[in-house]
Amino acid sequence: MAQESKKRILSGIQPSGTLHIGNFFGMMKRMISFQEQGELFVFIVNLHALTSVFDGETLRRNTISAAMDFLALGLDPQRSYFWVQSDVPEHVELSWYLSNFTPVGLLQRATSYKDKVAQGLPTNAGLFTYPILQAADILLYQSDLVPVGNDQKQHVEMTRDIAIRFNNSYGEVFNLPAPDVDENVAVVPGIDGRKMSKSYGNAISIFEDRESLRQKVMSIVTDSSPVEAPKDPDTCTLFALYKLFACEDEVIAMAQCYRGGGLRYADVKKELLELIWDLFRPFRERREELEADQAKVLEILDEGAKKARVVALETIEKVREVTGVRYRP
Ligand code: ADP
Ligand code: TRP
Repeated sequence: MAQESKKRILSGIQPSGTLHIGNFFGMMKRMISFQEQGELFVFIVNLHALTSVFDGETLRRNTISAAMDFLALGLDPQRSYFWVQSDVPEHVELSWYLSNFTPVGLLQRATSYKDKVAQGLPTNAGLFTYPILQAADILLYQSDLVPVGNDQKQHVEMTRDIAIRFNNSYGEVFNLPAPDVDENVAVVPGIDGRKMSKSYGNAISIFEDRESLRQKVMSIVTDSSPVEAPKDPDTCTLFALYKLFACEDEVIAMAQCYRGGGLRYADVKKELLELIWDLFRPFRERREELEADQAKVLEILDEGAKKARVVALETIEKVREVTGVRYRP
């Protein structure tokens, strides 16, 4: 494929906790596979995470840990752009320009914001303007495609909306990105049956140690139907997780066992434990090497930020020019 026709694919992840298998199936695995197809931009959005992490040491640790997870799972910094958001200050600069093209009503309609308010979280301007910083992340790199989960689709649509308003005033400065939601990626449930999330305490981390993985798998919620009763795989959290890790034949066979009766959830859990452990086994060693050589990780992130910044500056120079912020002749 010719270099010019390669699509720019971009996505970010918050280091608001340890990355989990929901993040893996919903985002990381897909992003890493895009390395082969397009020009890939992946970054860790530590500034966004400030809306929920209020402890410096935790944010630092999570940021490095997320970087190591991506690298261990096969993200190749030579073939992609991989950096930490705060290392490219132009994200924040662009978000200010964009805020002047973002109607308050648009922000008020953001479901993620409304959800936070409904949960009773204290509101602040950071939480409210979160989508503007995300729009800056996306537009700064003139992205074509933004692979996200369903929950983030609205933010990408808001980004388009903001870009159109800006372009209407100043000309075609921004490429209009499109969300890329893979409908086949189901929402990965957590061990309590709700959506797996860093913030619900129901997550299974990608690089969980063996004992804690065992404990988590064993505590996946199941119903209390007796062993001999036929069971419905389609409403079972354990089965939903099993499906992600087992091959097609195993899934078909397991569904039959569910429906036929005589199935012990504990046996399914034991199988699932091995499947999870085996899937990540090849990456665990690499993860340990990185953990032991964090200077190397920091070097990779430095290089990544330098590379990303070249692209970011192209856009920001244009924005400074068209807005008249660059006033010197
Ligand atoms: P969390 O809810 O754990 O904080 P994020 O909102 O930071 O996760 O999501 C990061 C990425 O991982 C997004 O692309 C999101 O769609 C995906 N993701 C998060 N949780 C899940 C899940 N349970 N199932 C599928 N994808 C998920
Ligand atoms: N809001 C996204 C999430 O919580 C993270 C994010 C920030 C992002 N900037 C982005 C995702 C840019 C895609 C593109 O998952």
